[in-house]
Amino acid sequence: MLQDESTQTVYLKDYQPPQYLVEDIQLSFNINDGHTVVESSMQMVRNPQAENLDKTVILQGEALELTSLVVDGSDLSINDYQLDDQALSFQAPGERFTVKTTSIIHPEENTALEGMYHSGRMYCTQCEAEGFRKITWFPDRPDVMAVFTTRLEADITACPVLLSNGNLLESGELDDGRHYAVWQDPFPKPSYLFALVAGDLKAIKGSHTTPSGKQVELNIFVEEENVDKCDHAMRSLINAMRWDESSYGREYDLDVYNIVAVNDFNMGAMENKGLNIFNSKYVLARQDTATDRDFQGIESVIAHEYFHNWTGNRITCRDWFQLSLKEGFTVFRDQCFSADMGSHDVKRIEDVRMLRTHQFAEDAGPMAHPVRPSSYMEINNFYTLTVYEKGAEVVRMQSNLLGPKKFRQATDLYFERFDGQAVTTDDFVKCMQDVLGRDLSQFKHWYDYAGTPELKVTSSYDADQCRYTLSVKQACPDTPGQNNKPPFYIPFAVGLLSSEGNDLIGTRMLEVTEKEQQFVFENIAEEPCPSLLRGFSAPVTVKYDYSDASLMFLMQKDTDGFSRWDASQQLSQRILLLLVKQQQSQQPMAVPIEYLSVVASILGEQDTDKALLAEILTLPSESYIGDLMQQVDVDAIHQAREYLRSEIANNLDAEIFELYKRLQDNGNFNISSAAMARRALKNTLLGYLVKSQRQESIDLCMQQYQESDNMTDTLSAFVVITDSDLPQRQSVIKDFEAKWHHDPLVMDKWFSAQAVSSGTDVLDNVKSLMKHPGFSMTNPNKVRSLIGAFCSANPANFHRLDGEGYKLLADVVLELDQLNAQVAARMIRLMSRWRRYDKQRQALMKQQLERIVNADNLSRDVFEIASKSLA
Ligand code: TRP
Ligand code: ZN
Repeated sequence: MLQDESTQTVYLKDYQPPQYLVEDIQLSFNINDGHTVVESSMQMVRNPQAENLDKTVILQGEALELTSLVVDGSDLSINDYQLDDQALSFQAPGERFTVKTTSIIHPEENTALEGMYHSGRMYCTQCEAEGFRKITWFPDRPDVMAVFTTRLEADITACPVLLSNGNLLESGELDDGRHYAVWQDPFPKPSYLFALVAGDLKAIKGSHTTPSGKQVELNIFVEEENVDKCDHAMRSLINAMRWDESSYGREYDLDVYNIVAVNDFNMGAMENKGLNIFNSKYVLARQDTATDRDFQGIESVIAHEYFHNWTGNRITCRDWFQLSLKEGFTVFRDQCFSADMGSHDVKRIEDVRMLRTHQFAEDAGPMAHPVRPSSYMEINNFYTLTVYEKGAEVVRMQSNLLGPKKFRQATDLYFERFDGQAVTTDDFVKCMQDVLGRDLSQFKHWYDYAGTPELKVTSSYDADQCRYTLSVKQACPDTPGQNNKPPFYIPFAVGLLSSEGNDLIGTRMLEVTEKEQQFVFENIAEEPCPSLLRGFSAPVTVKYDYSDASLMFLMQKDTDGFSRWDASQQLSQRILLLLVKQQQSQQPMAVPIEYLSVVASILGEQDTDKALLAEILTLPSESYIGDLMQQVDVDAIHQAREYLRSEIANNLDAEIFELYKRLQDNGNFNISSAAMARRALKNTLLGYLVKSQRQESIDLCMQQYQESDNMTDTLSAFVVITDSDLPQRQSVIKDFEAKWHHDPLVMDKWFSAQAVSSGTDVLDNVKSLMKHPGFSMTNPNKVRSLIGAFCSANPANFHRLDGEGYKLLADVVLELDQLNAQVAARMIRLMSRWRRYDKQRQALMKQQLERIVNADNLSRDVFEIASKSLA
């Protein structure tokens, strides 16, 4: 049961401009051990744009102890204002007035990690989306933008560093071992971008000069033991600044850019103006503690938050339904940046794999919602793959539609037209439309309708006329509250390959706009093999009846790297589904021999990007295969994937062994794309090698674990050993722990590797790891790396037929909900697609979801997900 029955759904259609605006706000934080006194003084004015004449001033505030309220110099008595657990309201004395409040908060007791909280050796804040109301009274909505001046005062030994948004105005020492600092952010901003940090931190310094000659001081603040893990983050920041200058003509606007790394953080990072706060996972990296994936993650998240300075901060969202305005665009920008820093094909493959496995699932489940949702109960539940990743695809389609030159003109126009304002996704599209000179109303369906459109494609060839025809039908499945959607505007990139593997038409962008459409190609001398949805030109699924031979041909011969990978995935999906069928009809599993020879030829490719080869050699995940089935058969999928992996391993053992040896490195470690690609391929092969169970291979794996000088190789070997039943397994797990127990980020990897391993005792092991001194229910990284990994990446064990996996998840969600509702709500999503399983599992999952919905004191966050999952 929901703690507060009055919880309501918020609708986009109800949007009204704010009645009162805040021109500027002076904040003062007096930080003491156990409580912080927050004083605020606001200059408020009536919004000339507000239509209704109501004079009630409403300020949001939650869990604040109000000790004084002064409006225009007079103390309001208890009869002059209304106060409940969400807001404070009173009558405006005029068009323009000042409001001063004093309240007390308790950051030390805050485990929700929203508002002001304490973590490690620091106090910090997290305000997006609606956390500022847990710090002080304010019209806490993104279309109220104010100039913030912030004074912090704290003990000089406990908190030598005092930071807030903007530039430092003054600082100094006070009596009693205390000191203070005053920061001012000259750019008006919404409250969700406010931040402060006070703590015992050390700074890594850098600097950057912008094209207009502005020198910017760069600082990364971390706890002392981590000062040697910040170089990569600093380099990434400088690269991101340069890239935004050259690709979008955007430069930074303050004298200083501060980044702070904190261990307890709900998400990846937060773009607070001039003071980004990061999950330490996206800052700290050293060759021996971070994998190549971690290095890449840091580069992209640092860039993402930096890019928000223009797409999010200078131009922000009118309301939270417009979240994708900043997130979709900023993800698109960080994807392009990462592609430019490394390999375009491989970056695209990684992004598409993630979208297909996770966003498509979301779009097909009970929480499906449009890129611009039209309602929510709890906004924190809408920081989703749909808003971020599908939102980025929607921006990418527009950039493809306009082409590079016009897209740049359109973004220039956007920055010029809306700088300093809080706007909507319609405003963004309007800029694209104005530059393109073409109506984009149909395109906007991408923002308004949920669900993944499907393209059914058939082909015919007329040899006499040398004419090839593609017929395309589009349809989009119904989603909660949305049936019978109109056709979408779908940019559909297509190539035609001759039997020699030559591109006959290059890559042609077809515009699919009707329910059914035909595209005719003349002068095609032989029946070509179509290469469809090249580069993943739209977030859709494509059904075309390829023969196995055509897929093998595309996988080896397509001129487009992305399409080669795509064909490899379609082929292995097909085989995995065949192996599932064989099991279901009690036949022995058998892998077509041609498949193995294609894999052999891939292994033999000398000149191809090794990272691309690694992607091609990686089979689709069990959960993705499940999504392709009418009903998920957890066990058969697991057996099929394991069987296919061992068939590849056993049949191609010699080739794999030889290639692995060739890829071993003897030079110095570096993180160039080429070196990362080599390690990616080598470690993909290592997984296969150990499957074949040959002693020589096992020795190689042990050797890699023991001798590696970098975490990528160490962890790859560690994961393979942990997933095996080798006699060394236990001692290797102990050894890793002994080496790394002091480093929480490395221990996250140790927890995850065990959580995703196979074997029948995993669930019990996860339960006992929850009692490990390195585990903590109040640290989101730990919850995600142990319990999240188990429930999402170990389907065979999570979906145990005795229901113990589901019970564990529900137990955790109920306990966590009282500590950190945001993270609890993310965890319960892992059970939201219960209808996709067999009757027995459905009943078990439903039972746990019902148990949750009926629990006392449930947060709005968890209630929304659990109740919508059951609806
Ligand atoms: N805006 C942040 C980003 O995209 C993410 C974010 C939203 C967030 N809400 C949060 C981070 C809550 C931490 C906690 O980068
Ligand atoms: Zn973001």
